[in-house]
Amino acid sequence: MLTVAVLISGTGSNLRALLEAASHPDFPARVVVVGADRDAEGLAHAEEFGIPSFTVPWHAHESRDAWGEELGRQIDVWTPDLIVLSGLMRLLPSSLVSRYAPRILNTHPAYLPEFPGAHGVRDALAAGAEQTGASVIVVDDGIDSGPILAQERVPVHADDTEHSLHERIKPVERRLLIDVVRRIATGDLTLTP
Ligand code: GAR
Repeated sequence: MLTVAVLISGTGSNLRALLEAASHPDFPARVVVVGADRDAEGLAHAEEFGIPSFTVPWHAHESRDAWGEELGRQIDVWTPDLIVLSGLMRLLPSSLVSRYAPRILNTHPAYLPEFPGAHGVRDALAAGAEQTGASVIVVDDGIDSGPILAQERVPVHADDTEHSLHERIKPVERRLLIDVVRRIATGDLTLTP
């Protein structure tokens, strides 16, 4: 059984979808812990599913490296096979990335390499794109620059707001993420360094 740690910053709707999938007896992976960089709303999903959680507050640390060191310590307790960044709005320090690489995945609300970064949905709208998408990638040292494991196009509607477009993208992200985790767990997809 593949064990997964999930890191979030926000509402955790994608986390919730993964928790629901992973609670099915036939699913070949289990979420063992959920972590956050703040008092994230989404931690409530972990509690509801009886999954342990921890918070390593970004603002309580003097540097990215110090934050990442504590985050790594908390994650190590659970020795997860995989770490999923599901709306974690912080870059991991390279020391943490290299320690777990290539076993850290990130979901992103755009069709990478288009619109990387913290505002993928807003940037697609601002660019006047007629379509954007969702991607699941392996985390490397760059900003959303790692190998793409799965992605799918999502149309932009003329009357879309950032919120409406993001809400259309998220279900696609969820489906891709759950499928990637399943394929890694079954050995259909191998992560290569
Ligand atoms: C998701 O769309 C995720 O891809 C995005 O934050 C959202 C979290 O939603 N992450 C990024 O933009 C990272 N660059 P959720 O908290 O409802 O799951």
